[in-house]
Formats: sequence, C-alpha cells, structure tokens
Amino acid sequence: QTGFAIFAPMLKTVLHEAIMAGGEQVSKYFNKTFEIKYKEGRNNLVTEADHASEKAILEVIQKAYPNHYILTEETGELPQDSEYKWIIDPIDGTINFAHGIPLNCISIGVEFKGEMILGMVYNPHMNELFFAEKGEGATFNGQPLKVSAEIDVMKSCLVTGFPYTYIQQNNGPLEVFERFIREGVPVRRLGAAAIDLCWVAAGRLDGFYEHKLQPWDSAAGFLIVEEAGGKVTDFEGNRYNPYEPRIVSTNGLIHDQLLEMINGKA
Ligand code: IPD
Ligand code: CA
Ligand code: CA
Ligand code: CA
Repeated sequence: QTGFAIFAPMLKTVLHEAIMAGGEQVSKYFNKTFEIKYKEGRNNLVTEADHASEKAILEVIQKAYPNHYILTEETGELPQDSEYKWIIDPIDGTINFAHGIPLNCISIGVEFKGEMILGMVYNPHMNELFFAEKGEGATFNGQPLKVSAEIDVMKSCLVTGFPYTYIQQNNGPLEVFERFIREGVPVRRLGAAAIDLCWVAAGRLDGFYEHKLQPWDSAAGFLIVEEAGGKVTDFEGNRYNPYEPRIVSTNGLIHDQLLEMINGKA
C-alpha cells in the first residue's frame, strides 16, 4: 500500500467524527434563534450556527492532524506544508438553514497531493450521510450509491443554483435556465450545492449545473458523483476540479446534451 491508502482508515474516522460534530451544532441551532450577519451582497448571510459548526469541525481535525492544510468558507485558509488539505463548508445552504428549511448540510472534502480522495456530506435534518473514497465507490447511509439511467436531457429532472450577486454574461444563469423552462424541462433550485451533487449521485436528479461555486461547495460532492458512476466537468467538458467555478454534473448519459444546452448549441 502506498500514499493515502495506509492512512485511509484513520482519515475516514476523523472525517466522520468531524462531520458529526458539525451536524450536532447545526441541529442544535436549527429552528431556534441565532445571530445573523451579512457578508458581501444583499442576502449573503452567515449565522452563529455556521461559525459553531465550523469551530466544532476544526477542533476534531486539528486535534488529530495539527499539520494538515485546511480551507474553510468562514475562516479561510489555514496553510500548512502538508500533502493533505481539508476543504470545509460548515453549512451549505445557509439561506435554507436561516429559514428553517431542512435542505442544508455539512460538506467536507479531503485532498491528498492535489487529488480529492475522500468526500462526505451530511444532512442532519434528514439523517442522510453521503460518502465517497477515490476508487472505492460512493455510499448513502452505508449502502452503495448509483446515478440515474436517464438518457434524454429533455426528460430529465435537473437542478441548478444562482450566485448571490448576479453577473451578466454569455450563456449566463438566467439564459440557460430560460432555455430549459421554454422546453418544459423541470429545473429545481434546492439551495445547497452539496445536496444537489449528492442527489445526482443518488439518482434523484439526473443533472446539476451552476455558474459560480466555491471549492467548499463542490469538493466533497463532485467525488461522490464520480464514485457513484456519474460525470463532473466544467462547462467545456474538462474533468472538474473544485477550484473551477463552473460545474456540470450528471449521470454521464445526458452529459454531452446538457453541455450543449448550457453552451447554446442544442
Ligand atoms: C451556496 C449554496 C447554493 C449555491 C451558492 C452557494 P452557502 O452556499 O450552495 O446552493 O447556489 O452558489 O454559495 O453560502 O449556503 O454555503
Ligand atoms: Ca456553500
Ligand atoms: Ca456555507
Ligand atoms: Ca455562504
């Protein structure tokens, strides 16, 4: 065994412990009163629960691995000279969380030498735990996970998300959305990119695209889709990496059709 494989069991245990610690905080604050602050943009919130979840997650990881590199949404970079990098979203779907909508989750990805090797997403309100290990497949509450079998994008159920601040661009979020709506293709907007990705992995949805994600939104979810047999790329069809803002993620079968619709070629 070489590389991360030797350390995988302990990494997985720490990852699971960390996400559960985050989940405990998220559950504790859900539907209670909590402080809300505003970041850049009109509705770009951060709540007391985001900070509490992040703190609990960091405590677990830093205790086990004080020398690992960490990137989180609310704290930012905690650089270290390490081959391991943890990428953390303490609450994905903060607006849902703040409105008492149980579609929000914690998302944690682990990179080794620049490759995503582990991804875990946990929705504590629905008790749904998604997990993937590079080359080992994906699971949903411990059971194997598989993408849908839909072959026609026009018969698909899709999902997307919109950025906090709208930027006018060619084939922008509204233009692409309009194309699908005109064709009568259902496009959901669940409000949590990590859940969007996991639901594609689970075959509940056939495809997901979004124009402006951050690494912590997609780090875990993109590996979960790949390991469930799906495909994840940028808008040009190149293999996805979580530092790329534009994502297309499908069951693989409708991937090229979805890319053509997004790029206005269909
Ligand atoms: C947001 C959610 C949303 C997506 C936004 C993200 P946050 O993350 O994932 O679905 O459309 O682009 O910023 O702010 O709730 O962690
Ligand atoms: Ca997020
Ligand atoms: Ca977040
Ligand atoms: Ca946010």
